[in-house]
Amino acid sequence: MSSSSINRINELTAEERAVYATLKPEQMPQHVAIIMDGNGRWAGRRLLKRFQGHQQGAKCVQLVTETASRIGLPWLTLYAFSLENNLRRPRAEVSFLMRLLRSYLESNVQRMMDNNVRMKYIGRTHELPPEVQEKMQWAEETTARNTGTTLTLALNYGARCELVDAFRSLSTELKHKHRSADHITEEDIQRHLYTAHMPDPDLLIRTSGEMRISNFLLWQIAYAEIYVTDMYWPDFRGIHLLQAISDFQRRERRYGGLSDSVGEVEEDPDRIRIAAG
Ligand code: FPP
Repeated sequence: MSSSSINRINELTAEERAVYATLKPEQMPQHVAIIMDGNGRWAGRRLLKRFQGHQQGAKCVQLVTETASRIGLPWLTLYAFSLENNLRRPRAEVSFLMRLLRSYLESNVQRMMDNNVRMKYIGRTHELPPEVQEKMQWAEETTARNTGTTLTLALNYGARCELVDAFRSLSTELKHKHRSADHITEEDIQRHLYTAHMPDPDLLIRTSGEMRISNFLLWQIAYAEIYVTDMYWPDFRGIHLLQAISDFQRRERRYGGLSDSVGEVEEDPDRIRIAAG
């Protein structure tokens, strides 16, 4: 964490500061990804329309991003609109979400600037309506020189499509370089993902209690810790992000290896009989 981000801890609410004080600075995640779910149910519980849930959800995007920027989280990636949302939701809802995105960008770019947040996107964004793409490009360019949290919105995003796009672009590269596909490495694939410029998420949060990944960052979450909360996205705030990070810090990340608490293997493994049948 940079010293400028440490200075911003005093901008946290007293409640957030109390949780932040329990965190271990050396074990902060570098990248948190969130599946924001439950806008519709949040609205339904209050006898409101689904669009009001999305509206409230957009406000939470800003609040959570600001907390992330105050604690100096380098990367925050939010699943805002999936390819499946685009194909399977009623047209009226899709067009509302597009208008909401434009208005979100219009009204929040100044706050992004004040919080040193840089905007980026992943997904098949070229398929979004041109007026939305224009606003997205404007927000990205305006915030491009900010050096704090990078907020990446996944828009018209699907992880399987991302892999298809990556393999197509890798295959073009191989042809140009006259390289054979026999020697493709994990790094080659990683370089062609939409997320090539960022580290993999350490922590994946999902709201509204569903135990699903929903086609989000399938390659990148290979070793992410998963945190599911029953809370609906429109109720999620910065304090909940900090609580998720606190839970994350209690996990033991082994990446397929052994825990540090496992001592030397005492017996010679070659001498252990394997009972067959
Ligand atoms: C899930 O709620 C959420 C979405 C479809 C997309 C998330 C969108 C937002 C948070 C608002 C817009 C964001 C920006 C950046 C402007 P749901 O409708 O699937 O909820 P349900 O499962 O309860 O029906």
